Amino acid sequence: MSKPRNSKLTLLKGRAVSETMAEDISEELGIDYCPRTVKDFPDGETYCHIKRSVRGDECFIIQPTCRSEDCGINNNLWELLIFLDTLKRASAKKEKLTAVIPYYGYGRQDRKTTGREPISAKLVANLITTAGATRILTVDLHAGQIQGFFDIPVDNLSAAFRDIIGKAVNKIIERAGENNLVIASPDVGSAKKTRKISGKFNKEMVIIEKERRNGKVKALNLIGEVKGRDVVIIDDIISTAGTLTEAVRLLKEKGAERVWAAVTHGIFAGEAIERIENSPIEKVFVTDSVPLLPKVKQCNQIETVRIGHIIGKAIRAIYEERSVSEMFPHT
Ligand code: R5P
Repeated sequence: MSKPRNSKLTLLKGRAVSETMAEDISEELGIDYCPRTVKDFPDGETYCHIKRSVRGDECFIIQPTCRSEDCGINNNLWELLIFLDTLKRASAKKEKLTAVIPYYGYGRQDRKTTGREPISAKLVANLITTAGATRILTVDLHAGQIQGFFDIPVDNLSAAFRDIIGKAVNKIIERAGENNLVIASPDVGSAKKTRKISGKFNKEMVIIEKERRNGKVKALNLIGEVKGRDVVIIDDIISTAGTLTEAVRLLKEKGAERVWAAVTHGIFAGEAIERIENSPIEKVFVTDSVPLLPKVKQCNQIETVRIGHIIGKAIRAIYEERSVSEMFPHT
């Protein structure tokens, strides 16, 4: 590492980090994870213990706040908070305690859409800061303004997201050829992000107008032309896959040839896998920001793009006090 430092870099992982991501981050940085114990008591309380001294260390705790194979989102969020508290009380270096959150849960509850609703994304930001985090490193926040919910620095790897999605689009082009490829935004809200990708690839863009009523998604209108063309849908999250499969249905109805998707966070809640399997979609690319459930790994239509090395590089840049955004000059 270029800059000599007094404090050691200490890497910790919670139980929700995907295996591939944990492996890639540790490999990128060339260090092992700090030994720790984390378990649930019979009554459901979480217990953490860090098994060596971290006094004066610059610590990075990695934990996505999403569901994992056997834990819900709230337990995994709580585990992150307890780890932060543990590190703070173990005298980790002040001002150098980074919460690495590859997927920021509750990010979609970022505003009140009607009276008497919470702004849970802000509540989560308050909790994480109160627990002791002094910096956040995250990937492709659902809404950029969530950065402003924190009064500590936030590195939102959105440029990395364009790089990752770009890799998926390149794979699609390699396999499918260009065939008048068109980039699609599955809803009006994502149009701005999608435009950056279509600009990067110098491709046309179409927009789908959708509505969600009582939790059920319906793709209503298509702005643009897809007849006889191949389409790549770009999105930040697949949860129930309602948005994605409805978009595919409408695109096919409007004459699209083949449809792919490149999505950052694969939650795959409820019937998502069944929906994808019953959809005429060619392939869905997702990153490993969220741990992959066995049924996701078994689904032939889903392919993973590993992003741990990118997060590892960002951790190194933070540790060496170098620019994070300059890591992605081409995006
Ligand atoms: C919406 O604003 C997001 O970008 C995603 O399109 C949405 O959250 C996906 O949810 P689902 O898979 O449940 O339709």
